[in-house]
Amino acid sequence: MKKIVCVVGTRPEAIKMAPVINALKLQPWADVRVLAAAQHRQMLDQVLILFDIVPDGDMHVMQTKQNLTDLTARLLLGSGKFFDEEKPDAVLVQGDTTTVMAVALAAFYRQIPIGHVEAGLRTGDLSNPFPEEANRVIAGRLARWHFAPTRSARANLLGEGVSDADIFVTRNTVIDALLATANREIDAGLQLPVNGRLILITCHRRENFGAPIRRICKAIRQLAENNTKDHFLYPVHPNPNVMEAAESIFAGLPNVQLCAPLDYAGFVAVMRRSYLIISDSGGIQEEAPALGKPVLVVREKTERSEAVEENVVRLVGTTTQRIVAETQSLLDDPVAYGAMARGISPYGDGQASQRIADILTRDLASLS
Ligand code: UD1
Ligand code: UDP
Repeated sequence: MKKIVCVVGTRPEAIKMAPVINALKLQPWADVRVLAAAQHRQMLDQVLILFDIVPDGDMHVMQTKQNLTDLTARLLLGSGKFFDEEKPDAVLVQGDTTTVMAVALAAFYRQIPIGHVEAGLRTGDLSNPFPEEANRVIAGRLARWHFAPTRSARANLLGEGVSDADIFVTRNTVIDALLATANREIDAGLQLPVNGRLILITCHRRENFGAPIRRICKAIRQLAENNTKDHFLYPVHPNPNVMEAAESIFAGLPNVQLCAPLDYAGFVAVMRRSYLIISDSGGIQEEAPALGKPVLVVREKTERSEAVEENVVRLVGTTTQRIVAETQSLLDDPVAYGAMARGISPYGDGQASQRIADILTRDLASLS
């Protein structure tokens, strides 16, 4: 048996790692251990419960309003201790959070080979998104297996000098998770109006804190005032920087509904019910196109260039005026809307996790 530790720190890592964990558990050679770094507490637990994953270790690192330096230190120490106790043959990390960067470093210091799931995403700008671009560059520099979701992610890695033999274009495991979830009949537990269009909103990026998030919320406020028959639903990220802006700007608007983060199945159900999505999320840019839902991305840059090129996602920046103009033109123009709502995703086919398991089987199962 080979021991393989899969690490999950935040909500999106757990969503995208869950199908990989399940695929690896079916391999007779694999002794799979799950380490919950718990950079997120409640939102991580929501996903673990949904996918029936019970962690073998839990680092309990989350603190309210955590800062990146202390978080990194807790993650390095906690994961290092777990690796010293478990002595894994390989470690898998997913994405570009601080968990990924710190845990990869702890594994590297112990010379444990690292598999990076969702490797090679880049904007080329260390400030956008911050600190995720740096996190994924560092994890990528340390990884032994680069599981790239697309050909352009592979090209980014080749451009940084990664050997072609270490890069595997697997597609994105988020579509595996989405397909496993999307067909369930779920009631998200929300009171939503039966008539009118549903506009779904999420926002949480660090580089948007302060003035940008206020501009984004003001744009939503104007849109809600101009489109009173439409309903705006905003599951608010529990980061205090996000909650404060949302609660102050939307107070008193009858067609803007704020709610706590939904569990993944509930959120997928709400995405399916929505007309369009306004978001700065990474994962939603991958999932929503597969459900035929246009995404207006409230960021300056995106690493999901494939979706922009396919015209299923549009980058609209963070100025109030542009967000209002771009959203209103999509709400008013059914032809432009139809051109975006095509139900195609450049990101996956539901087989990404199996491809990752097959590659690890080839490379690990026969090692003595
Ligand atoms: C983190 C990741 C980001 C990822 C996002 C997914 C970093 C630096 N950021 O951002 O890349 O896109 O997760 O959502 O790795 N909190 C809770 N409960 C939770 C989760 C968060 O209360 O379940 C609050 C805490 O006060 C915490 C704060 O949110 O300190 C920020 O959490 P943190 O993980 O540092 O940043 P995110 O914005 O969630
Ligand atoms: N999501 C969720 N509940 C919510 C909002 C989002 O389950 O209330 C899911 C969403 O479907 C996607 C993931 O969380 O799979 C994206 O997480 P987030 O936007 O926090 O992080 P990012 O993808 O930007 O790193």
